[in-house]
Amino acid sequence: MTHIKPVPPARATPLTPRKRAILVGASSGIGAALAKQLASDGWTLALLARRADRLAALCEEINASAGEVRAVSYVHDVTDTASVPGLLQQILADLGGLDLIIYNSGIALPTGFKHYNFETDRKMTEVNYIGALAWLDPAATVFQSLGAGHIVGISSVAGDRGRVKNPAYNASKAALTCYLEALRNRLSRRGVHVLTVKPGYVATELTQGQKGMFLVISPEKAAADISKAIRRRKQQIYTPWFWGWIMLIVRNIPSVLFRRMSF
Ligand SMILES: NC(=O)c1ccc[n+]([C@@H]2O[C@H](COP(=O)([O-])OP(=O)(O)OC[C@H]3O[C@@H](n4cnc5c(N)ncnc54)[C@H](OP(=O)(O)O)[C@@H]3O)[C@@H](O)[C@H]2O)c1
Repeated sequence: MTHIKPVPPARATPLTPRKRAILVGASSGIGAALAKQLASDGWTLALLARRADRLAALCEEINASAGEVRAVSYVHDVTDTASVPGLLQQILADLGGLDLIIYNSGIALPTGFKHYNFETDRKMTEVNYIGALAWLDPAATVFQSLGAGHIVGISSVAGDRGRVKNPAYNASKAALTCYLEALRNRLSRRGVHVLTVKPGYVATELTQGQKGMFLVISPEKAAADISKAIRRRKQQIYTPWFWGWIMLIVRNIPSVLFRRMSF
């Protein structure tokens, strides 16, 4: 069963041009499903990630089903932060402007319960948080000067609490959530919307083989929720919605109990 639901109309004319979006981290999982969903919603897309073959195949699929060029790929590693300003300028010129940017790139590297590894933790921080700053700071500057625009960050329920399994992954997502909230507080008064997305467990390459997952959803379901939240100009969503209630409880578990749990 697919959750991809096309929404009308988004027909491009000289007076109502097609809306343009950058999606960072589009080659698999939630990002790839979101690219397909947004294309069917009528967006023109710049799709970024490292795996050129995956991006090329995705663009081909989107453009073939749209019957026109709706998605273009740019091979990019978000840890190469020095290349971001130049690439952003190139994409702005290629798309003819920008209405939406989504930062979705993320990694969760395996960490043993009793092990601490600075290199692993640094990599997660670089991809999950530093890369977001590298893309969203200049995007915020562009949108602030336009007095319009939409910023979306794919954070996680993992950022709501420091859990025992992967401290640096939790911390990178907590930092991203806090940064997005601060961006929203700065930019909402300037006509710019900022959406924080907190998925629960989603069946993707990132979670492949992970034990103890529950209430798992498909990337297509997550993409449909994110697309709806963008259209409705939401500030924050949990996907699926019931994680909002689960995390309300989790956030309120007293530390004296929480530190004894393996969640
Ligand atoms: N799956 C879940 O249960 C879950 C739950 C909560 C939050 N999330 C978040 O959702 C987002 C998407 O993850 P996913 O589950 O869909 O996993 P995924 O299929 O592994 O997708 C991760 C995406 O990030 C990109 N990426 C990773 N390292 C990158 C780098 N150095 N430069 C550029 N792009 C990079 C990958 O592209 P390349 O490898 O081609 O570069 C890929 O497009 C992540 O931020 C993740 O933390 C996932």
